[in-house]
Amino acid sequence: MYYLLIFVCFVSTLLDSTNTHALNESLMICSESHEDRRLFMQDKPRSAYAQLPVIYFVTPTYPRREQIPELTRLAHTLLHVPRLHWLVANDRDRCDKFLDNMLNKFGIPFTYLASPMPSKFRNTKPAPRGVANRRAALQWLHQRNLTAGVLYFGDDDNTYDLRLFSEIRQTQRVSMFPVGLIAEYAVSGPVVRNGKVVAFLDSWVAGRRWPVDMAGFAVNLAYMSQYPNVNMPFKPGYEEDLFLRSIGLRIDQIEPKGNNCTEILVWHTQTKNKKSPTVRIDSALLNDRFNLGALFHSLKVMGVASASDTEGPRAVISKNGKGKPLSYFLS
Ligand SMILES: *[C@@H]1O[C@H](CO)[C@@H](O)[C@H](O)[C@H]1NC(C)=O
Ligand SMILES: *[C@@H]1O[C@H](CO)[C@@H](O)[C@H](O)[C@H]1NC(C)=O
Ligand SMILES: *[C@@H]1O[C@H](CO)[C@@H](O)[C@H](O)[C@H]1NC(C)=O
Repeated sequence: MYYLLIFVCFVSTLLDSTNTHALNESLMICSESHEDRRLFMQDKPRSAYAQLPVIYFVTPTYPRREQIPELTRLAHTLLHVPRLHWLVANDRDRCDKFLDNMLNKFGIPFTYLASPMPSKFRNTKPAPRGVANRRAALQWLHQRNLTAGVLYFGDDDNTYDLRLFSEIRQTQRVSMFPVGLIAEYAVSGPVVRNGKVVAFLDSWVAGRRWPVDMAGFAVNLAYMSQYPNVNMPFKPGYEEDLFLRSIGLRIDQIEPKGNNCTEILVWHTQTKNKKSPTVRIDSALLNDRFNLGALFHSLKVMGVASASDTEGPRAVISKNGKGKPLSYFLS
């Protein structure tokens, strides 16, 4: 009874929470390119795809050691996908030249946003990660009155099968499909019967009407534009549910993808998140006589590692299987 009461209170605070305020984000557009500079995709010239609806692929990302490798890997998936606009929203209060250059080089149309989590949420546990970023992307779409194309939320650490993109591109309202490696069952997705979604399989229900992963659905922008109060509240665990509630979704409208939800086209891979180390290296090795100065400079810019003369575990520099003292390299 006690638990039931708590549960009821919890659910009733879901929708009237102060966290559901309307979209009015302090986003910064760092850079963008609407030009597709890729010549060929999947062995066809870019022009072969001109009629396809655009996929707006929204990637929330945040500074950490794994950020640049994750985005590099994701970019190399997206390079194969025609008619895609990549919205990269970084959880940082300013733009970053390195990320700007990197995104520019791929030739994929993109918009790079700086959309930091509001400071009042920074110390909450769990923090609503990625929400400010997705809200910023929703606002960007809204401000451009984009009513053609398909929206998809694709985190930087997932694995995407290229067939996913052909499937979601045809979304009329909201499409859904299973996501692999989610929580306890290692899968989350719709239950389909006779080609219709009738229920959901997900190990964490918690009162959610739409217990799906962020990567498990796509939304048509013409459909979404009918709901001016589209929202994604700062409510950890309930982002998908409340977003889908804000666009008036009904279960009979859901379009199952991935061969009636029998295939996995996206995986919630996740990478181990480790602290970026400080490596102790004598400053004599960090000048321009060696590569190490430039190498560690670039690692620092990417947030991967930094070198210090005085802190951290001393780096072993070896030759022929033996660590050598500094004097060996300087002589
Ligand atoms: C949006 O936010 C700005 C500053 O954060 C504030 O001045 C403005 O009143 C807000 N607008 C709405 C409609 O809430
Ligand atoms: C979007 O539509 C609104 C209202 O019709 C209009 O005021 C605004 O200028 C449009 N914005 C763009 C970028 O077309
Ligand atoms: C999904 O199932 C329905 C009903 O059994 C069937 O008509 C439809 O062809 C199936 N779709 C796919 C893509 O297999």
